[in-house]
Amino acid sequence: AIANMKGLKQGQLKLSAVSTTKYFLPRIIGPFCQQYPGVELSLRFTNHERILQYMTDNQDDFYILSQLPSTIDVTSHRILENPLVAIAPSNHPLAEETNIPFQRLAEEPFIMREPGSGTRQALEELFHKHQAELKVRLELGSNEAIKQAILGGLGVSVLSKHTLTLEKDTGLFAILDVEDLPIKRNWYAIYPAGKQPSVVARTFLNYLEADHNLNLTNEEVKTA
Ligand code: PGA
Repeated sequence: AIANMKGLKQGQLKLSAVSTTKYFLPRIIGPFCQQYPGVELSLRFTNHERILQYMTDNQDDFYILSQLPSTIDVTSHRILENPLVAIAPSNHPLAEETNIPFQRLAEEPFIMREPGSGTRQALEELFHKHQAELKVRLELGSNEAIKQAILGGLGVSVLSKHTLTLEKDTGLFAILDVEDLPIKRNWYAIYPAGKQPSVVARTFLNYLEADHNLNLTNEEVKTA
């Protein structure tokens, strides 16, 4: 049966996904590509604003993001938890503290993602909720660059916990225990409500929803 399926599932599959999905998506596609060698898979990673633009322009089969759009009607499939956490270097004075009040975190200089980033938007909303003012020390258009700047002592940030997947045993970073954090979010695979995904796209959607390694990865991150 699998041999038959192989013949059926071929063609191109194009996806755009938010920056943080690069911390799990390329890792878990191996078995899918092995099962469907005829599928030509192309992934690109960017921020929320650009993903929504690509969707408006109908550039991809589907899209993966964390914040569902409020103005466009979409079909969505929940994939995995994607919490945002406060990250500091492990030698930071707040690293050993518990139950840190939000206002205390707000005194720290922040390293921010670029405008158009959903991570940035979620952080701004949290500051707005607490009527606190963000002290922006630096703006960087990449999660990895922000991690480097954190290690360089330039400030703290709020990023997806998945950005620390490979560093969790290194002792380089501390996740701060702050009031109202982590910000709970999920990744969703979405496409415009009227669109009929191709057979290949539907097969990959099912794969993303069903894959057990996804849950494993999430567990690993949870215990970081
Ligand atoms: P962003 O989204 O790249 O737009 O910040 C990342 C995320 O939602 O995990």
